[in-house]
Parts: sequence; C-alpha cells; structure tokens
Amino acid sequence: MSRGRFITLEGGEGAGKSTQIRLLAEALRACGLEVVVTREPGGSKGAEEIRALLVSGDTGRWGPVTEVLLHTAARRDHLERTVWPALEAGTWVICDRFFDSTVAYQGYGLGLGAEYVAQVQRVALGDFRPDLTLILDIAPETGLRRAAVRHGGEDRYERMDVAFHHRLRDGFRAIAAAEPGRCALIDATATIETVQARILDAVTRRLDLPAS
Ligand code: TMP
Repeated sequence: MSRGRFITLEGGEGAGKSTQIRLLAEALRACGLEVVVTREPGGSKGAEEIRALLVSGDTGRWGPVTEVLLHTAARRDHLERTVWPALEAGTWVICDRFFDSTVAYQGYGLGLGAEYVAQVQRVALGDFRPDLTLILDIAPETGLRRAAVRHGGEDRYERMDVAFHHRLRDGFRAIAAAEPGRCALIDATATIETVQARILDAVTRRLDLPAS
C-alpha cells in the first residue's frame, strides 16, 4: 500500500480554512481516497490539552520562545499519535495549520525570526514536511472581521494588535515565495466556489490523484 499524502492549509485569521478543508476532504473522498481531517494546535489528546493553554487567556500569557516550544511539543505529539500512523496506513491527511503557522505567528508576528523557528522544528520533527501546503491569503482587516463572528473564547491570537496580523501575513507570503515547490499561495478574498476551484487545481497539478 502506498503512503498517504500530507496536505496542510495555512493563513491568517478568518481566511476560510475550515470551509475549504471540508470541501477538499469531500472532493478527495469522491476520488476514493481515505481522508482524515485534523488540526493544530491539537489533533491528539495531549496536543488538544496544550491547545487550551495557547488559544485562550491574556495575549502576553507566554513569552515567544515558550510559545514556540508549546506549539512544537503539541505538534510532535500530534504527528506521533495521529498523522504518521494515518500516513503509514495509506490515509491522506488534511491538516488545519502546521509548522508554517509557527514561522508566521511566532517567527514573524512575535519577532523571533523564521530561522530560529525552523531550527526548533528541525530538532523536534527531523526533516518531515507536508507534501503540499495551501496558503490562503487575505487582508488582515477582512479576515479579522470574518473571524470575529466565530470562536467560543479561542481568540487569544485574534486579540493581538493589527500590526501583528500584518507581520504574519508578510510571513506567509515570504514562505510561499521561498518554497514554491511545496506551497501554493491562494487569494482567499474570492467566493467560496472560486477558492475551492483554485485549491483543487493546485492539488490536482501537484499530487497524483486517482481517477474518480
Ligand atoms: P485556529 O483558530 O486556526 O484553530 O488556530 C488557533 C490559533 O493558534 C490561531 O490563532 C493561530 C495560532 N497558531 C500559532 O500561533 N502558532 C502555531 O504554530 C499554530 C499551529 C497556531
């Protein structure tokens, strides 16, 4: 049996990842693939416990380095318990956020720098990387307006100032520019159907899909 593929979706607040992940999972299942949808921080019991420490409370609750370590510890547990076993079993995994969020939010947003965050990822995860990363790009003001109508208290990052959100958007765009083989930058201001079509196009062009 061939190994599953690992697809990650990234972007700032309110970029529409949840809707697009649901639609992508439906499309892949229609091709006959086994698909698991998961998220970060979270996706395993321990990582969900760490998530609760990260997404609520005061914006300055953690120092930036501690925050990177917490996200990365959650990620390691998530990989060991959820993602790697699924990929080994031939299942495709769609993950709502992955290490690019740590580069963007903590590296660019909190100012630790992309290289520092990348080093921590290498120590904790080795050279494991997504097969494809879809980065949904949207102006922070638009995304934050959309995000304000959801989230039951999981809004610690949304409450960071708007300059933080501009820095992390710059971060995501820099990641997409630096790694065009792995990443596709998708304009997320279009309609749900248009964004979905762009995502399916990127997945079809970059990964081998079975004929449906
Ligand atoms: P979500 O709202 O998309 O579920 O993500 C939870 C929050 O965690 C979101 O505001 C982004 C933030 N985050 C980081 O700051 N660093 C990370 O490494 C990850 C995975 C998420």
